[in-house]
Amino acid sequence: MDAIAELRGKYLHQIRAAADAAALEQVRLAALGKKGEISQQMRSLGRMSADERQTAGPALNELKSEIDAALKARRAALEDASLDARLQAEWLDVTLPGRPRPRGTIHPVSQVMDELTAIFADMGFSVAEGPQIESDWYNFDALNIAPEHPSRQEMDTFYMHRDSGDNRPPHVLRTHTSPVQIRAMQDRGAPLRVIAPGRVYRMDMDQTHTPMFHQVEGLAIDRDITMAQLKWVLEEFCRAFFELDAVELRFRASHFPFTEPSAEVDIRCSWEGGQLKLGEGDDWLEILGSGMVHPHVLRSGGIDPEVWQGFAFGMGIDRIAMLKYGIPDLRAFFESDLRWLRHYGFAALDQPSLAAGLSR
Ligand code: PHE
Repeated sequence: MDAIAELRGKYLHQIRAAADAAALEQVRLAALGKKGEISQQMRSLGRMSADERQTAGPALNELKSEIDAALKARRAALEDASLDARLQAEWLDVTLPGRPRPRGTIHPVSQVMDELTAIFADMGFSVAEGPQIESDWYNFDALNIAPEHPSRQEMDTFYMHRDSGDNRPPHVLRTHTSPVQIRAMQDRGAPLRVIAPGRVYRMDMDQTHTPMFHQVEGLAIDRDITMAQLKWVLEEFCRAFFELDAVELRFRASHFPFTEPSAEVDIRCSWEGGQLKLGEGDDWLEILGSGMVHPHVLRSGGIDPEVWQGFAFGMGIDRIAMLKYGIPDLRAFFESDLRWLRHYGFAALDQPSLAAGLSR
């Protein structure tokens, strides 16, 4: 009996002291494993006299159940403790406010390019592109701009550097999007209906001029295109773009080497109290140059001017962005001032479409 009491004391103590599941398993093996102390005691029952067995048997059984129960209880307690520890360590407050993330905005020029692309696409124009570094042939010669024309002068045009002995033909930063007319004609032939939005470069810098700015070129060629269609397309564009029921455009005779006849186009506006309003008033604001494509230009593009004719126009994108969104200074467009971008920028999901309306 003493031996059993001793075993009970010893193992209950060890079980209480076991700090984790592995230590507890060691105790279990030492007590109840195949070679465990209590198991051996059970086996020794066979060697006892019937009398001894009568008392030792039930006592051992009781000890075994007691140790078994203590093991189970301790195991459960250890598991609870480790779960508590994990819950404590991995605790997460889902009610905390999220960390703010800086959000970018769509630049007004990008927004306006998307808007005008949607409007012209609706009228059957697809988008054409050309390089910003252009040969002087595409930028000038092919467009019927004479060698002595003032716009070629180094004063206005950025020429690419050439080392002496480098005999490649001159390249320029394109001064307008009109060279894309030639590339589109060469690539796609007639009939043709494209717009070409993009960056252009001229040496100029004041409140209304920056050395880099944006234009969109338009070109429509077919057998019977006239100025009347040019007028309708531009009016339709302005109505949709500026979201006005009525716009009035004024065609002023002008001159471009690549169109004949040529016209500059103004939009009717008023400047009451420094506030610009489009579609009404007694003032006019120039927004684009246009005309019927010159036969020389058609020929440069590989198109027969005896069969085909068309109109072209070139419009300042920054200018119409300023007009639509009331942005006063052109230079601010390209200064990357975050306060300006947040104020005039557009949300990323603000996709212009004709169906949803074009404004924000
Ligand atoms: N390329 C001209 C400019 O930059 C605009 C224009 C384009 C005029 C097409 C007529 C036809 O001013």
